[in-house]
Amino acid sequence: MPPAQPDLAQLLNPLRDPRDKRLPRVAGPSVLVLFGVTGDLSRKKLLPAIYDLANRGLLPPGFSLIGFARRDWADQDFRQVAYEAVKEHARTPFREDVWQQLSQGMHFVPGEFGDPGAFDALAMAVKELDESRGTGGNYAFYLSIPPSAFPQVVQQLRRSGLADHADDQWRRVVIEKPFGHDLASALELNKIVHEVFPEESIFRIDHYLGKETVQNILALRFANTMFEPIWNRSYVDHVQITMAEDIGIGGRAGYYDGIGAARDVIQNHLLQLLALTAMEEPTSFSAEAVRQEKIKILSSVRLHGDLGLSTVRGQYAAGWQGGQQVKGYLDEDGIPATSITETYAAIRLEIDSRRWAGVPFYLRTGKRLSRRATEVALQFQRAPHLPFASTDTEELGQNALVFRVQPDEGVTVRFGSKVPGTSMEVRDVNMDFAYGESFTESSPEAYERLLLDVLIGDPPLFPRQEEVELSWMILDPIEEYWAKNRRPDAYKSGGYGPESADTLMAREGRAWRRL
Ligand code: BG6
Repeated sequence: MPPAQPDLAQLLNPLRDPRDKRLPRVAGPSVLVLFGVTGDLSRKKLLPAIYDLANRGLLPPGFSLIGFARRDWADQDFRQVAYEAVKEHARTPFREDVWQQLSQGMHFVPGEFGDPGAFDALAMAVKELDESRGTGGNYAFYLSIPPSAFPQVVQQLRRSGLADHADDQWRRVVIEKPFGHDLASALELNKIVHEVFPEESIFRIDHYLGKETVQNILALRFANTMFEPIWNRSYVDHVQITMAEDIGIGGRAGYYDGIGAARDVIQNHLLQLLALTAMEEPTSFSAEAVRQEKIKILSSVRLHGDLGLSTVRGQYAAGWQGGQQVKGYLDEDGIPATSITETYAAIRLEIDSRRWAGVPFYLRTGKRLSRRATEVALQFQRAPHLPFASTDTEELGQNALVFRVQPDEGVTVRFGSKVPGTSMEVRDVNMDFAYGESFTESSPEAYERLLLDVLIGDPPLFPRQEEVELSWMILDPIEEYWAKNRRPDAYKSGGYGPESADTLMAREGRAWRRL
């Protein structure tokens, strides 16, 4: 008998379940350059995600990471910051050998975005890595920086030759949201990036698309037979998409004020959730096929009627949260007392298509609400006839199918069931699927998946420019209306949002799902 072949995937990643016969998607030789490496996102999400990928054996041994920022750091300082970030925020257990291997490839280049010398030093640093760690001349530039700095950085990448590559090498640029402030600025931003990078090298991050539960919307819809027949206006009464947060704006006043909840979250995360929920089946899961279907939905979204009635904006006032007294938005550090930025937004949309005509989609998001919960809920029409005494169905609501995006990830089906006893009382019950109970493997963080996809060059989970533009076209009229007509309504921290949001629903005989 021939000797048993060693399992390469297992050798690379001892954490892997040996029964798992799928080929791992492993990144090839590459360097990731992180601009804005001293920011919150980098510390809480990006650096831990890179470690988690390394720990799962998904990065090549020579993988290298360069931090670029305006700090007087040596490599050692950067490694220490990354070490603390990993210790505090990584998802997978800390392993000294993995950390050693990874941290040997970590370097820091200090500099201003406008300083040609700093970019020349960066160009030297990546070349050295190609030689010392075999990174093959493949570079991804991650711009975790304010959009106002994009033109400078992109131009410097071109000037220093960092954007040029041989045929067998690649360059990719990763752009964090916000992709502009409105349609006009998004077009401008796109022009600037396109002057240096072709569309196929641009990866726009919407981290919601990296979440397992968000991808599961497509799995549930298109891998099964029982849901799709009822996924339309004949059965669905309306759809609620909620992203509620219990946190305030924390230390992000500089970013958040003047942006607000709608630009921060609805323009990207919630409209992407809407597109995935409403779109037709794509011909395949290629980036292009999925994009085509999302585009069709985003182009048929309509704001119906009076924006004063179909939109709400709110701003959190002081209150209590988790047993602690918390400040109102206007008292947060760095927020002007006259700010009219909204921290809560709710909007009613419709989709003009045969499948969805007349079905409202209600989107809401807010900070400092009673709890953190993101979900997509399809609320079904009531049964056309109930052959029960009306007193027996008082507790029966609408059937619902709910994607629990986070926390407590899973899917809930809500339907009426007989209450045990001698009468025919019917009441709502839940049937739950929970990731934690059905799968032994835990879900990767969104940024793990997305960073790996960038390094592999796999684009389906990244919105294309057209999607970004269509999303601004939906939001721009609302923002314009708000700017002219509407101060945000105050709501108490720790509650359910402004009363006007409840009124928006009540006017149509509906109510928000309880958070
Ligand atoms: C970001 C927003 O895109 O998403 C933040 O800018 C928000 O304001 C965050 O807090 C929420 O992300 P998650 O993954 O915790 O739901």
